[in-house]
Amino acid sequence: MNDVFAQSAPITVESAVRSHAIALSFSKNENDEFLIEGPSQLVSQIAKHFEVILLDELTFFSPTGKAGELFEIPVSATDSETERIYLVGLGDKSLASIRLAAAAVGRKVRGKNIQVFAACTDGVDELHAFAVSLTLGSYVWNLKSDKEIKSPTFFIATNDQETLDDAVVIVKAICTARDLVHTPANIKNPAWLADQAVQMGKEFGFDVKVLAGKELAQFGGLRAVGNSSPKPGPRFVELSYQPRNSKKNVNALEHVVLVGKGITFDTGGVSLKRPYDTMIAMKSDMAGAAAILATLSAIAQLQPKVRVSALMMLAENALSGTSQRPSDVITHFGGTTVEVINTDAEGRLVLADGLAYADANLDPDYLVDIATLTGAATLGLGRQYAAMYTRDNDLAKELVSIGEESGDKVWHMPLIDDYQDSLESDIADFNHTADKARYSAGSVTAALFLEKFVGERRWVHLDIAGTARSEVDAGENVKGGTGFGVRLLTDWIMSL
Ligand code: BES
Ligand code: MN
Ligand code: ZN
Repeated sequence: MNDVFAQSAPITVESAVRSHAIALSFSKNENDEFLIEGPSQLVSQIAKHFEVILLDELTFFSPTGKAGELFEIPVSATDSETERIYLVGLGDKSLASIRLAAAAVGRKVRGKNIQVFAACTDGVDELHAFAVSLTLGSYVWNLKSDKEIKSPTFFIATNDQETLDDAVVIVKAICTARDLVHTPANIKNPAWLADQAVQMGKEFGFDVKVLAGKELAQFGGLRAVGNSSPKPGPRFVELSYQPRNSKKNVNALEHVVLVGKGITFDTGGVSLKRPYDTMIAMKSDMAGAAAILATLSAIAQLQPKVRVSALMMLAENALSGTSQRPSDVITHFGGTTVEVINTDAEGRLVLADGLAYADANLDPDYLVDIATLTGAATLGLGRQYAAMYTRDNDLAKELVSIGEESGDKVWHMPLIDDYQDSLESDIADFNHTADKARYSAGSVTAALFLEKFVGERRWVHLDIAGTARSEVDAGENVKGGTGFGVRLLTDWIMSL
């Protein structure tokens, strides 16, 4: 719902004092002395303008030097709009610390209709991280009827317009993913979500194909889950990006295929979720599909020389007379049969069709799925790291490092072959809840199930059940959708 994003501003005192608030930063050196960061000439001009000694003011607050620590100094001067200076701690000045600092400033002015001038960091990566987290910290979403959403306007002191433009592309995409996740399920049914994709395809310039009804005949998993809510029923959405004006033959470019779980609401189906309040968060069960759609919007603007397809597997897992039953056997895309044990393990059923479709039709060089798949992933890693599964250790290392840099952190988990026999079934090719043997490890066995559908492809599975949604209103996140995956996938694709 944020529609104002960071823009660049001249690194001058005249430009600074036009804003209602000025954000500057500080750090602590090896001798435990504090120093004000940022362009030194500008900083001293600002201090002079308001007749304040910034270091004295800072010391007064007894700072610890932790990243994201924020102090507010009231200021005034004639010919100036500025009412306060924020001093924010940069900690060890790593990208993670800069993200915390930026989010703290963004959060401080969230919901306020004010202009904020920020001169806190330089360096390309630092500026990028700062601009993204500044905006994320100020993100707001609601459907209150009585007031319009107010948001701050950020002016970042820099000459590096290009870095800022890239940051705005990413942060807009993350906010789009968040907006989609926040939208309640009475509004965002699969048809609505497919329509959002169609509109975004027109806006950003990528192709969108939507399949529904009889066109889904081969998608046994998607139908079994999605027909529980027959109106409007499930949708399969295929987004395709290829670079404009590519000199190379497009078919010679590497092809990345993303598959996203898009369960618009997960009641559990006949295997109803219990206790029932665990259901309330389940409008977020389409966060994987939202992340890949938003990633495509960023990619279409950044124009990397790769092909990217994204398959959104959209269905509602409802409880009705047309819900699937525990003990049903379904036939997935490509013919694999699966015995359904627990209808609450619906995510892997819709993903299986998407992965098999990608393998059969799209010849991917990389096949990546992203899904709020298992509560077990959250139990294992909490809410800061997504569980990543792949047999390609080099690719895993690459993604771990891009995750640390971008803030979408992933942990490489093992595909434990000793647990394969849990997927056996007496009556079908596999049982989908891995209950033939009791190994626990629900996130691992879910990954092993998905692997049955990827053929020989280079495949990565991201279980974002813990990271897609925040339960607290803190740092970069509001309570609700986080937009997890957009930064990771976009940065990775840009690195190919
Ligand atoms: N959407 C849930 C997983 C989930 C749980 C995401 C909590 C976010 C927060 C998924 O469809 C599910 O219900 N998984 C089951 C699988 C089980 C029945 C094998 C689970 O994790 O309990
Ligand atoms: Mn479920
Ligand atoms: Zn689910």
